[in-house]
Amino acid sequence: MRARVGVLISGSGSNLQALMDAAAAGAPFDIVQVISNKPDAYGLTRAEAAGAPALAIDHRAFGQDRKAFEAELNAALRRADVEWVALAGFMRVLTRDFVEAWSGRLVNIHPSLLPLFAGLHTHARALAAGVAVHGCSVHHVVEGVDEGPIIGQAAVPVLPDDTAATLAARVNRAELRLYPAALAYAVTGVAPALTQDAESLIALRQP
Ligand code: GRF
Repeated sequence: MRARVGVLISGSGSNLQALMDAAAAGAPFDIVQVISNKPDAYGLTRAEAAGAPALAIDHRAFGQDRKAFEAELNAALRRADVEWVALAGFMRVLTRDFVEAWSGRLVNIHPSLLPLFAGLHTHARALAAGVAVHGCSVHHVVEGVDEGPIIGQAAVPVLPDDTAATLAARVNRAELRLYPAALAYAVTGVAPALTQDAESLIALRQP
C-alpha cells in the first residue's frame, strides 16, 4: 500500500519536486494533493506539470483567522483522502488543533541540523556561528516550531568561501536526497537503502 501524501508549500517547490520524482520512481507514497498558501508559488506549476492535483488556498483571504484557513486546508486534504501531510517550504505556523489532528502523520523539512538553528535565516546564522557542518532535518511536527522527533538528517560541510547563498544551495541539494528517503521511512517504518554522495552524509534515525 502506498501512502497518500498531501504536500503543503509556499514557494519554489524543489522539495515537492523531489517527492513527486521519488513517487514516480516507485517510492512507497503518492503525492495526491499539493496546496500552496501563495497563489503564485512556482511549486504549483511543478505540481501541474507532474500531474499532481494542485490548489491555492490564500491565507490572506482569512485575515487573522488561522482556524478558518486551516479548516479549508483540512477540508481539501480530507477530500483527497490524504493520510500523511508533508510540509515542504510551507511558511505558515500551524495551530495546535491542526497539528493534533494530523499527529504522527505530519512531517516537515527544516534547513538546519536541528535542534540547532530553528526558525528563519538558518544559513546566515550557521555562518555567523562558525559551525563546520550544517545541513537539514526531516522531523515529525509538534506544536513548537521546528521541534518534534527527528526522522532523518543530512549534513554538509561549511566551506571557507561560503556565503549564505552557496551554503543554502549545498543544503538544498542534500534536502532533495533526504526528504524522499525520510518520508519513505516515516510512512513504512522501514529505512530505505541510502545512496551516499561525496557532498553530504544522510542518516535516518533508527528507533
Ligand atoms: C527548504 O529549504 C526547506 O527546508 C525550507 O524551505 C525551503 C523550501 O524550498 N523549509 P523549496 O520550496 O522546496 O524549493
